[in-house]
Amino acid sequence: MATAAALHPPSDGFKATLTPISRFAQEQGRNDDPSAVLLEEAERLKREPPLVDEELLEIDNALKHFHGLGLWGGEINGGNFPLPTLSKKLVMLKQDVLSGRGFVNIRGLEADRYSPEDTSLVFVGICKSMGTRIGRQDEGYALGHIREANRSETSQDHRPFRDSNLALTYHTDGYCPILGMQMRAEAAEGGDHLLASSWAIYNELATTRPDIIRLLATPNWYFDPRGIHDDPRPRSIIFYEGETQQGAGDGKLIINFIRYLLTGRPGVPKLAASPDCTSQQIEALDAIEAFSRKHSLKLDVRPGDIAFVNNWSMLHSRTAFRDDEEHVRYLVRIWLKNDNPVLEWPMPAVFRMGHLKIFDEDDHTLKWNVTPQPRLAFKIYQMLAQA
Ligand SMILES: [Fe+2]
Repeated sequence: MATAAALHPPSDGFKATLTPISRFAQEQGRNDDPSAVLLEEAERLKREPPLVDEELLEIDNALKHFHGLGLWGGEINGGNFPLPTLSKKLVMLKQDVLSGRGFVNIRGLEADRYSPEDTSLVFVGICKSMGTRIGRQDEGYALGHIREANRSETSQDHRPFRDSNLALTYHTDGYCPILGMQMRAEAAEGGDHLLASSWAIYNELATTRPDIIRLLATPNWYFDPRGIHDDPRPRSIIFYEGETQQGAGDGKLIINFIRYLLTGRPGVPKLAASPDCTSQQIEALDAIEAFSRKHSLKLDVRPGDIAFVNNWSMLHSRTAFRDDEEHVRYLVRIWLKNDNPVLEWPMPAVFRMGHLKIFDEDDHTLKWNVTPQPRLAFKIYQMLAQA
């Protein structure tokens, strides 16, 4: 826990240290480091009761109602997938994601309660309570099916991480505000979901290495331009947005990056024309990784669970895993945003190009890939950016 506050803001426009943004912390009058609060929150989350029978029945009925309308998945909304009781709980969870601790987990759904297609419809129906818009992944798909491509002959190092069983460093998923993830099946071993609060990392840096915050805030980081969703201009990695008046303290700190786009990875070197990181920049990335590990919390998800994570306030990673014949890790991902500017965090201007690539068209244009297809060969942008 960071105890000694920095005497001065470590970079222009930044706060000296940040306080927790948790409903629990506010209720308790807590003003200490976000990391300590979030670890308590993660423990509280494990004790949250799962969905009760009435709520599960409500989901069953919403699915039947939706099928009866003859619509397709891209058209799901609160009106045609009605959850009259559960939606009230989801509103509270949405507050926790967007203006609270930054992550929630909905437990109690069974991974095999429905057909694969209906499981995805239910997932999307619940996602539409958390965000009003679904982002496009890859070349316009609504869902990201994350599992090891065990039929591919491509080596693990040359696959996108989502198709490999490799560990991931802490990162954010590009330019979407909210990640929705449904765990469908667990690995035989490993594959833990890990989260770390950007605010806790910031406080560590502010008290121990403010020079690193200045480096991260300098727009001199070159992302490999082959990763889709990225503005080719160099940019910063850390941002402080939305301060309404001098010193009001109501701004939002955002850390946003994927290490592999900055450094390449063993199987995919960075494009020669894209400047390498300096040794100081590598040190800064290593510091983020080290402090992320120090403040990491494990998201305790089981098959059927639906987790939502604030991609602006939290970094995430995954441990390496091993499947066997009975246990094949399988996670489905959706990128979400809200059209309501009151709910959304202020977004750095340099995110706009990438954000528009994900969200510029309405949900009716999404390709509806409710079930996974075997993946055998991969494109370069997927190997670098699809973490
Ligand atoms: Fe990710």
